Amino acid sequence: MKNAKIVLGVSAGIAAYKAVELLRLLVKEGADVRVVMSANAGQFVTPLTFAALSGNPVTHTLFDSENSANMEHIRVAENADLLVVAPATASMLGKMAHGLADDALSSLHLAFKGSVLVAPAMNDGMWAHPAVKENIDLLKSRGVEFVDPECGELACGVIGPGRLAEPSVILDRVRGYFDQRNDLNGMRFLVTAGPTHEPIDPVRYLSNPSSGKMGYAIAEQAKARGGEVVLISGPTSLQPPAGINFKSCKTAGEMNGLVQEHLENCDVLIMSAAVGDFAAEKLEKEKIKKQATEGLVLKLVANKDILLEVARRNSGKLVVGFAAETQNLVESALEKMRKKNLDLIVANDISAPGIGFQSDSNQVTIIDREENIENLPLKPKRDIADLLLDRILSRLKR
Ligand code: CTP
Repeated sequence: MKNAKIVLGVSAGIAAYKAVELLRLLVKEGADVRVVMSANAGQFVTPLTFAALSGNPVTHTLFDSENSANMEHIRVAENADLLVVAPATASMLGKMAHGLADDALSSLHLAFKGSVLVAPAMNDGMWAHPAVKENIDLLKSRGVEFVDPECGELACGVIGPGRLAEPSVILDRVRGYFDQRNDLNGMRFLVTAGPTHEPIDPVRYLSNPSSGKMGYAIAEQAKARGGEVVLISGPTSLQPPAGINFKSCKTAGEMNGLVQEHLENCDVLIMSAAVGDFAAEKLEKEKIKKQATEGLVLKLVANKDILLEVARRNSGKLVVGFAAETQNLVESALEKMRKKNLDLIVANDISAPGIGFQSDSNQVTIIDREENIENLPLKPKRDIADLLLDRILSRLKR
């Protein structure tokens, strides 16, 4: 965990004193820890205690005249790998689940792009309340991980579940997170993402609704786990991820050129882009006028299939394709895998509501060359990315 960048979020529970011990353990492991406190956490432990132990300034208010102008509470989130909220009170869980941002910690949580680990602590009655359970389920469905509270004597005097997990237990989970994070060290990934634009005239193009979110999630997770990543992206509204060699392109032809250029220097190719299959045979130099085009017929030609080109080169790389289908999901994906000589194919039913192209979650089926079929439940795209990378890693280790 040397130099691991961690944000420790402390909310206002009696167990805040255990966050002091957790901070001490994290710092001893070599982590660079920034502490962010909820509005009332200072009632239990002073910011000064956390500042002294972490060696870093502590963010505890949204309205501190010195720091709020440069958005200190948001800046802390930049470049951090992991947000650990310990203790997380029922109130903080509610804010996190519903996107409230009325103090430094809840605001930071909303701005945070990395992984989140939460250690709740509260009275046993609160812990059992359906509202708290639903908030936890909601957060879990977004990929937030939990270190469950222990059973024991609570601050209110009763014995029951709700006591913050021991700092050493939380530390183990944090350590596990960073151990897993480096499992792709030294591996080189070439990932494609997003749609392509095939121009018809200077203002129009053929495309599809791919958002690029799946491919960007794969690139980000591969990087976070120690991999070296080149991301080739068609036009999207997403920010290029930090620390990744980012190449943008518009057309399928440009994407093909970039893939062939970077293929040699990668170990794994993941083609998650929704590459356009057709381009206009003729690109009009001037905007096509509607008056002059009654019954306009657009003649299309097929684009090169990038994966088929790669298969033809017999590149010896591990190659992963995607299959976006509206019917016969598994049969169509199997056919594509065989035809394009893929090691793995990720199939999804783009006709199902709430999953696929634009959404943050997806429900996919992963099929391997040996034709083993794994149906995954609905999950955030980041979790699917991690599961896919796990499958890739186990094939590389064979
Ligand atoms: N693909 C590619 N080059 C293309 C079209 C697709 O490399 N010109 C890749 C995609 O990135 C994906 C896989 O091939 O990994 C399957 O893409 P998909 O659009 O599902 O299938 P197609 O092969 O295009 O077949 P169809 O559109 O007829 O289903």
